[in-house]
Amino acid sequence: MRGYFGIGAERISKQMNVGSLFRTAHAFGAGFVFTVAASYARDEGEIADTSRSTASVPQYDYETVQDLRLPVGCGLIGIEITEDAVELPSFRHPRCAAYVLGQERGSLSPELVELCDHVVKIPTKFAVNLAIAGAIVMYDRLISTGRFAARPLVPGGPSEPLPPHVFGEPLWRAKQREASAARASKNDREER
Ligand SMILES: C[S@@+](CC[C@H](N)C(=O)[O-])C[C@H]1O[C@@H](n2cnc3c(N)ncnc32)[C@H](O)[C@@H]1O
Repeated sequence: MRGYFGIGAERISKQMNVGSLFRTAHAFGAGFVFTVAASYARDEGEIADTSRSTASVPQYDYETVQDLRLPVGCGLIGIEITEDAVELPSFRHPRCAAYVLGQERGSLSPELVELCDHVVKIPTKFAVNLAIAGAIVMYDRLISTGRFAARPLVPGGPSEPLPPHVFGEPLWRAKQREASAARASKNDREER
């Protein structure tokens, strides 16, 4: 799968939530994790993060929303229940994305929402725990961008295995072929 993703939370205050979110991010193959204006006891975050994600996944802690920095070309996706948010099952994940969740007893700040390229909501009856919301978004990214055998029409596992991946020709060769076809057709027209 091309691209990468990171995930983080704004104004998070419970170390168990940080640990749970970062452990899940590690399991789903996050490229980085981050916090913005967090106020949790950092040394206790590992209670829920038994995978010790900080030893494997880079973690960035930003003091304020203004301090937030993302890699070049990385889209910022807010995960929040807002009226205008796109429903997750209808959302196309950017190849390079950073997902950001809101705090336990509140939501994403207006300043952070302002920075987001998209805001996405999970169609639930009411808000779920933020680490759970993060896990759902990461799973949705995995199943909508990963390569898996198609679901069958009847209940149960796939009836056909995943076909082997076929590599396309290199982009430069395809461009060369197009350019020489365009030249040939131009010469053709001029000769007529
Ligand atoms: C527990 S919720 C915050 C409480 C929430 N404001 C309320 O109405 O009780 C914490 C964070 O989880 C995320 N979240 C929870 N449920 C969500 C959903 N259904 N869709 C999108 N984000 C959700 C959001 O980032 C939210 O800011």
